[in-house]
Amino acid sequence: MNFCYPFINTPLPYPYHALEPFIDEKTMHLHHDKHLQTYIDNLNALLKENPMLQKCSLEELLISCCRRPDSLQISIGNNAGGVYNHRFFFDGMSNDDNLSIDDFLLLEINKHFCNFDQFKNQFKQAALSVFGSGYAWLVLDNGRLKITTTSNQDTPLEKHQYPLLNLDVWEHAYYLKHYNVRAAYVDDWFHVVNWHMVSLRLEKWLSFCT
Ligand SMILES: [Fe+2]
Repeated sequence: MNFCYPFINTPLPYPYHALEPFIDEKTMHLHHDKHLQTYIDNLNALLKENPMLQKCSLEELLISCCRRPDSLQISIGNNAGGVYNHRFFFDGMSNDDNLSIDDFLLLEINKHFCNFDQFKNQFKQAALSVFGSGYAWLVLDNGRLKITTTSNQDTPLEKHQYPLLNLDVWEHAYYLKHYNVRAAYVDDWFHVVNWHMVSLRLEKWLSFCT
């Protein structure tokens, strides 16, 4: 797999229909094959014109935004963010019932949010609070789990927060099935969260930070 230019649209880690009945197959096709593909195409087109950035990974393009030429700040940020956020979102879901939350992650969630139900409720409220398009996130911030939101295709990486889980609340992520009822989409999404992936991400960032 290539981790820098030219970026390719890697397949979903599960079939398009795998998240039914919570996330519908048609939405997954459009979301992955059209929306994500457009960000990849736009990013590749930008990098084609800027060879000095072609060796950068997605993370480097996002974190090292201060090194981007001024004229590219917004366009690279939007499109690299669009690729990063979508891949992160798709990888954070699964239809495998065995990928339930493990003891360590549950302990961390209970430590920071009182209990799992409180966490779910706070995450849902954050997702509902996003005005327009954006994401709700669970991040590691200075060693603490925290819920946050970003607008459009911004990422927590730019704020030096380490992402663990995200929920795409752009309307294209849910409108075909849930219409304008974002709350129902959030409730359904909780059924397909890949908690094993969240644990792996937490382990990675904890070892990176120590
Ligand atoms: Fe999206």
